[in-house]
Amino acid sequence: MDGLESANAAARIAGPSGDFSRIPYHLYTDQSVFDLEQERIFRGPTWNYLGFETEVGEPGDYITGYVGTTPYVLTRDKDGALHAFVNRCAHRGVAVVRELRGNARNFTCIYHQWCYALNGDLIGVPMMKGMRGVGGYPEDFQVADHGLTRLRLATFSGIVFGTFSDETPPLEDYLGPAICARLKTVCGRPIKVTGYHRHTMRANWKLFVENTRDMYHAPMLHPFVSVFEIADAAMQATMEMSHRGGLNSILSGYKPTDADGGRPPPRQGKRIPLEEPDVAIGVPEFPDGLAISIISIFPSCLFTLPGNTFSVRQIRPKGVDEVETLYTWYAFEDDDDEMAERRRMQNNMFGPAGYVAMEDAEAMELIQQRISDAALEGRSLLEFGGRGTEDRIDHMLSEGALRAFWKGYCDIMGIEPGPAGAA
Ligand SMILES: [Fe+2]
Repeated sequence: MDGLESANAAARIAGPSGDFSRIPYHLYTDQSVFDLEQERIFRGPTWNYLGFETEVGEPGDYITGYVGTTPYVLTRDKDGALHAFVNRCAHRGVAVVRELRGNARNFTCIYHQWCYALNGDLIGVPMMKGMRGVGGYPEDFQVADHGLTRLRLATFSGIVFGTFSDETPPLEDYLGPAICARLKTVCGRPIKVTGYHRHTMRANWKLFVENTRDMYHAPMLHPFVSVFEIADAAMQATMEMSHRGGLNSILSGYKPTDADGGRPPPRQGKRIPLEEPDVAIGVPEFPDGLAISIISIFPSCLFTLPGNTFSVRQIRPKGVDEVETLYTWYAFEDDDDEMAERRRMQNNMFGPAGYVAMEDAEAMELIQQRISDAALEGRSLLEFGGRGTEDRIDHMLSEGALRAFWKGYCDIMGIEPGPAGAA
């Protein structure tokens, strides 16, 4: 799509209300919106999570993944430098690397054996000059012209991000100070990856992104959270938004003080203290005393840090109504056995088979099923906690972080919001 065509495509998309309290459902269901997102967001001026440096710790190590719908390979070359390139042979478009991760000296496409170095440069073409005087490439064929498409990389606190655009601002500016500070804390010591999970949901990827910014649903969709005294709607919390209005956000809840007996304030109704609190309730391990933080980095990752279990989820939109999340679980190299066990138990609680992710997936899929019928026009309502956007909210009873997301989304997509406060 060229610039003019793409601008026209954006102009034809009806946007949210100007106060971002009404979001038309077609933004979650239209293929043309999905296609424009790939161009403007995932291949546009954004930093996309690619993996941890430690996952490609040794020369030759590689991992594979997706930025939006584009497959990539992240590698470390023999001099220790990191590289990422599109996983598609420059000859005929075959996937060059077919394993999820591993260690290699170079990468050879199965089809015609084009061979690429760890940095994505083409280094070998069989029969380039033909054989016995026939075949081969034209005289002006240059190996150097046919390397794999590279991504530009930046790292922060051992986390690798990639971008396809030259316009993307420096990574720290993109993340914002609150997210940088928290990432430094929660990835500050040498980490080790302890495992992966993959979770596919039949829902638009933005429903997942919205869910990551919505703390207010937790005690209702996940009632066990308050029944078992893991957290409470009245818990002190902050939400800070950064980058282009609010595309990135950090939601943080504080662990109740000793005065509360180490538990959230009493709530009305049923309370059943866990007999084995270690399955879900963390012990403080960072100087800031934060019991939970959720860091949403637009467009492609989510750090979830409740208690002592840490994961980053990579968001891979597979289609307008399907999203896959890849959990990468991590721990610290210097964890003792007790902490390692505690993290493992809490992984079960918060992973794709735990209550939280299953219940979220169910809610998202129920939405997608109901909004996909184009004949039933409609919009989502986001005015809990007010209308419009704020940079910081000091409680969790608000959809403000969702409105901020939509403001940034419209900005990067070039979609014009409508009048404010429509009925
Ligand atoms: Fe949830």
